[in-house]
Amino acid sequence: MDMTIRKSAGLHGELSVPGDKSISHRAIMLGALSEGTTEITNFLQGADCLSTISCFQSMGVDIENTATHVRIRGVGLHGLHEPKNTLDVGNSGTTARLLSGILAGQSFTATLNGDASIQKRPMKRVIDPLTQMGASLKSLRGNGCAPLEIRGGNLHGIHYNSPVASAQVKSCVLLAGLYADDVTLVTEPALSRNHTELMLTGFGADIKSMGTTASVAPNPRLAGQNIQVPGDISSAAYWIAAALAVPGSELVLKNVGINPTRDGILRAAAAMGANIARENIRTVSGELVCDLIVKSSLLHGTTISGELIPTLIDEIPVIAVLACFAEGETVIKDAQELKVKESNRIDTVVEGLRAMGADAAATDDGMMIRGGRTLHGTVIDSHMDHRIAMSFAVAGLLCDEPTTIRNADSVAISYPGFFESLKQAGR
Ligand code: S3P
Repeated sequence: MDMTIRKSAGLHGELSVPGDKSISHRAIMLGALSEGTTEITNFLQGADCLSTISCFQSMGVDIENTATHVRIRGVGLHGLHEPKNTLDVGNSGTTARLLSGILAGQSFTATLNGDASIQKRPMKRVIDPLTQMGASLKSLRGNGCAPLEIRGGNLHGIHYNSPVASAQVKSCVLLAGLYADDVTLVTEPALSRNHTELMLTGFGADIKSMGTTASVAPNPRLAGQNIQVPGDISSAAYWIAAALAVPGSELVLKNVGINPTRDGILRAAAAMGANIARENIRTVSGELVCDLIVKSSLLHGTTISGELIPTLIDEIPVIAVLACFAEGETVIKDAQELKVKESNRIDTVVEGLRAMGADAAATDDGMMIRGGRTLHGTVIDSHMDHRIAMSFAVAGLLCDEPTTIRNADSVAISYPGFFESLKQAGR
């Protein structure tokens, strides 16, 4: 499906973004491995999280998904059944990596696979630590990617030094650690999102976090919980960028998760001179949440690098769009991970920006953008990447000519209803 975006005269009103994708996945997984019932509200009904639901249903977990809530009857740590068919993770890297950790602890063999994009994403990063723990994992095409056959084993606790700051890798190892014979530790080069640690603690596991190291004690008794999923800051990011860049805008974004391991976009925007207020700060289901008031602002360029990168990794495409409307240069570095997302986001972002006339260049580990040029509407290929589709929809709001987004339906991965909300906010 193609979607055409037209210039905006200003975005106004109050908006609630859908539930956090990372937290929604984890709520299903931990609910399934718990004893008793878990009820989730504001669950993200995006394709990725629905893939997680269907994988656990295939392993015998009773999950009811209604308009108001998701209810899971947990089977306990050792209650999953061997699936009859290949587990289909769709487009979801989070499902693929976290599920691998859980499967490594089972007493059966399972195969997982996904769409064309998943079949290109690196799984060696989870094969290595899980193999060290004692599981047997085989990339069936021998290329380090899915399809992946996982034979669970008697796992040992290890201290894994992850070469990448990846919450998917960290979570994978911690989830496998639930099944190990001793404490499992993961140290990462920079702190990545810590939703797994927070939620595991809430379900009753013994988790310790010290700087960039997290540990889990084996064989906890997880107890079902009620989880209220906060709004996804990664989805709020499109509104933040749009309201900042489109003159005369003011948006109130209700109930946005602002966990400090996720709030990098707010810090980067502040460094660019953005006017964003946080109100009504509170903790919900162990996660920090607030309302954001975003007003259009005169922005200047900044450098985004180092430890900030994992806290805004999914927001870089839309931050790059924002940088086109800032005065001076924005440099994004230490972000090689962008190359192995749903698309190679260094290439897909720079290609799209240049097609619109921006002064943007790819680097080995990020990109450089010089703001101030007028962008013009054109046809943008989303490369079936939801975040590329939404980022360029935001760019389209700032072009005199219409912008057409190819394969715009990819937004359903993380933000069903995005284009409807865009129409509403523009009214
Ligand atoms: C996620 C972690 C990040 C992020 C992804 C969701 C998670 O990936 O890009 O969208 O839920 O753990 P990496 O851990 O690979 O950086």
